[in-house]
Amino acid sequence: MDETRDPEARILELRARIAHHNHLYNDLDTPEISDGDYDLLMRELRALEEMHPEFQTPDSPADTVGGAVSATFAPVQHRMPMTSLDNAMDGAELAAWGERLVRQLAGEPTSFVCELKIDGLAMSLRYEHGELVQAATRGDGKMGEDVTANIRTIASIPQTLQDPEGIRIPDVLEVRGEVYMPLGSFTALNAAAVAAGEKLLVNPRNAAAGSLRQKDSRITAKRSLSFWSYQLGEVVGGPQFTNHHETLQFIEALGFPVNPHIRQLATVDEVAEFCLGWQRDRHTLDYDIDGCVVKVDDLAQREKLGFTSRAPRWAIAFKFPPEERTTLLRDIMISVGRTGRVTPFAVLEPVFVGGSTVAMSTLHNQDQVALKDVRPGDTVIVRKAGDVIPEVVGPVLSLRSEDSVPWVFPTECPCPLKSELVRPVGEANITCIEIACPFQRDQRIIYFASRGAMDIEGLGERTVMQLSEARRADGQSLVKTPADIYFVTVEDLLQLEGFATISAERLVAAIQGSRDRPLPRLLTALGIKHLGPSAAEGLSRAFGTLDAIMDAGEADLALTEGLGGIIAASIRRWFDVEDNRAFIERLREAGVEFGNVVVSRQPQILAGKAVVVTGTVEGFTREEAEAAIKDRGGKSPGSVSKKTFAVVVGAEPGASKVTKATELGVPMLDEIGFAHLLATGDLPESSVSVAVEPVPEA
Ligand code: IVH
Repeated sequence: MDETRDPEARILELRARIAHHNHLYNDLDTPEISDGDYDLLMRELRALEEMHPEFQTPDSPADTVGGAVSATFAPVQHRMPMTSLDNAMDGAELAAWGERLVRQLAGEPTSFVCELKIDGLAMSLRYEHGELVQAATRGDGKMGEDVTANIRTIASIPQTLQDPEGIRIPDVLEVRGEVYMPLGSFTALNAAAVAAGEKLLVNPRNAAAGSLRQKDSRITAKRSLSFWSYQLGEVVGGPQFTNHHETLQFIEALGFPVNPHIRQLATVDEVAEFCLGWQRDRHTLDYDIDGCVVKVDDLAQREKLGFTSRAPRWAIAFKFPPEERTTLLRDIMISVGRTGRVTPFAVLEPVFVGGSTVAMSTLHNQDQVALKDVRPGDTVIVRKAGDVIPEVVGPVLSLRSEDSVPWVFPTECPCPLKSELVRPVGEANITCIEIACPFQRDQRIIYFASRGAMDIEGLGERTVMQLSEARRADGQSLVKTPADIYFVTVEDLLQLEGFATISAERLVAAIQGSRDRPLPRLLTALGIKHLGPSAAEGLSRAFGTLDAIMDAGEADLALTEGLGGIIAASIRRWFDVEDNRAFIERLREAGVEFGNVVVSRQPQILAGKAVVVTGTVEGFTREEAEAAIKDRGGKSPGSVSKKTFAVVVGAEPGASKVTKATELGVPMLDEIGFAHLLATGDLPESSVSVAVEPVPEA
């Protein structure tokens, strides 16, 4: 909050902005900001209004809910208002709510019903004598819209109530709950949109809202919406209840879907555990939830507690930290990988989302950028769900400036050589084909030193870039090939920023210490296309030394167990390139061991873990990637489930596996993350390795 500003002016500004966003969200289904950003505005307004009661007015959006009623659907007056809920943003706010309850109930013991906060649209279903007569949206809480025809298309909503034995169906029964779109339906709908070249839907809530607003209910019927019931509205006749959980059992018996994860809990500590548990596990569900709802179970106590102007005192929404935020797309840049593959990525105004600050996010390839049609200068929605790599979902079109033009993929490599970029026919990736490209060279050195290859502690991206920019006295680069690192001295390192004697000596020792790595690691580190750790093991066993492999013909290579013709041809081609031969000789000169074939059985670091592979992982065929997992005791099934430990996502991955992993919150790994997994048996530190290689300063 900006304390220095005139509070009244800020309150008026916030009210106007919130009213504007309410209209966009509730009436037009075209929000311009994420729920997370909206909550921040609302919190600021409430705090200011509390600090300055002199500016409070009854029509403040802080005290009202929802939006206006449109002309498309007939208005419906709610017999009992459909109120909103107050929010608790963390455990402390939840505890404070619990303490207020104790005071308000003068110490009476109380207990709670904890529910999931379904991220959909609130709906009130009215039944008269067991027949569905009206379905209404929340609207502004007093007046909603009649969407009965559309609601009738939802299979899980009963048209006629079951008549269970011993229960009298009330004359009038209003059941309230949430209409939502299951994630599976959302993904399928978006897949169809891609196929038809149509705009992508931003999220399931929006898709559900749009589906309900259709004038033609045949369209709604195709959208596979669903419903969870969680509250009674008006009831005339029928049984008397003393607790909320009994009302839920009752509506379930009448045939309404009631969420199976609802729990009755006795203490606020248990409630907090429930909420935090679901915050962690939210992605195991087939629908979006944005929090938990905690309700006092005893209906007489609810009566005592009553309502504030906008929400009941007997319930609170525990909101999860937002996984979607809007931010500025500052630029789209490209990065060059070690094989020359060029990847576009988004440079974002840093935004805190899904538990960390996101400033960059991969955009995968040219077609993805075109499909999302994101442009520098756009306000974009950024999503980071659980352990999943952050993604730019799409632009907020209503905020796009009029002179905006689509982004065009550069035709030149960003490296100083400005070499040409080409996209081979039928391929998704654009490539820099210049062998001498310094950006590719840096990436090759980084790969050479990485954990899955020569494993040189302390030789990461930053140091490699420093080394590659450093010049010798004769003006030559200090490091041009990975082999050159073995000739770097303590004195050389002391010239670089950030090095002192101890750190320089330590790095030189680590580099020299890597010279006797086992042959399979050395082979992997060379970065030969298609040659990954598993094939490298096979070759090492079969040939024993690097020289023998270098001299072998393609046919001999192809005889190696687990190694096909494609890898054999690729290896042969690589060793036939003169520069590569020179690189090998330089390694020999450095004293790198060419015949260390202690090919022991791999330590069983993946025992009991299921790792699914999708797409092409650089350096591996599908069989090799799976073999590398199995060699370490792991399993590599063909599909993703709750039990999957990680999904390795290569180039052109299967959409269904990625979607499933996203839904279930299974960590996804790129090539480097996979190398880390094979080397350690664990996920990389952040359990996310973003598939973006940052562009070095030109
Ligand atoms: S109870 C008076 N229970 O959250 C109590 N609401 O922010 C009314 N929601 O408008 C709501 N899941 O659209 C309740 N299990 C749940 C819910 C839930 C989602 C939505 C609902 C409500 C909004 C309040």
